[in-house]
Amino acid sequence: MRVAFVGKGGAGKSAIAGTFARLLARRGQPVLAIDSDPLPGMAFSLGLDRDDAPLPDEAIEDRPEDEEGPRYRLRAGLSAAEAIDRYAATAPDGVRFLQFGKIRTDPRALFRSQIAFRQIIHELPEDRWHLVGDLPGGTRQAFTGWGGYADTYLVVVEPMAKSLLSARRLARLASSADRPVRVLAVANKVTEPGDVELIARRSGLEVVASVPLEPAFADAERSGRAPLDVVPDSVAVGAVSLLLERLDHQQLKGATT
Ligand SMILES: Nc1ncnc2c1ncn2[C@@H]1O[C@H](COP(=O)(O)OP(=O)(O)O)[C@@H](O)[C@H]1O
Ligand SMILES: [Mg+2]
Repeated sequence: MRVAFVGKGGAGKSAIAGTFARLLARRGQPVLAIDSDPLPGMAFSLGLDRDDAPLPDEAIEDRPEDEEGPRYRLRAGLSAAEAIDRYAATAPDGVRFLQFGKIRTDPRALFRSQIAFRQIIHELPEDRWHLVGDLPGGTRQAFTGWGGYADTYLVVVEPMAKSLLSARRLARLASSADRPVRVLAVANKVTEPGDVELIARRSGLEVVASVPLEPAFADAERSGRAPLDVVPDSVAVGAVSLLLERLDHQQLKGATT
């Protein structure tokens, strides 16, 4: 499974993506979680206690001048898979976690790390891990560059005017990827019976999951803990689990849109 969560800031991408990744890992599957949002949030939703772990300097070197490409690259001999084995954080349930890095760290170190991050994303071996991504909000770049590994985009949408507007735009952007992708909506912070229908109508997308408003998610955020550890038996976590099952099932049927 190769999914990437997109949506307006605050819609709930990180909360859902982190929970999704761990639930998938609990099935005994190898999972790589990828946070490429420069306003990162996935570390905490996975249950890691620090949210800034760019690739270390030793993993990166200057690209030789006679070689084409960006200024830096992964150290010679270090493959993308090895870089992950060695340097990706390990979150609860065994989820491996790779992060683009925060905007506010030392700019030069971050730049090196980000170029290497891109290279890793580009060179990820097929079939080694299930991939669960947390993408930055709104540009085409998110889909063609950062989310290039995904075969399914999940647009997280709140039943609120602005979120609905951006969902339609994101749906269009996601569908404009230069390869076949599946684009589905996840309704989040649902409170009214009509919310799901509203989101389906306004976004033009099939809504594959409906996650209710769960105040404990916000509490989890405040205490820096994973929603899955704070309210494992909540309806909201149950809804993410159902999402996983539905995608798995559709995958088996080979369904695409
Ligand atoms: N289903 C939900 N119920 C209540 N609060 C939620 C829910 N999903 C997310 N949140 C809260 O909304 C805020 C934004 O969520 P977050 O996952 O950080 O959004 P994004 O990654 O899209 O910017 C956080 O405080 C989070 O705890
Ligand atoms: Mg986020």
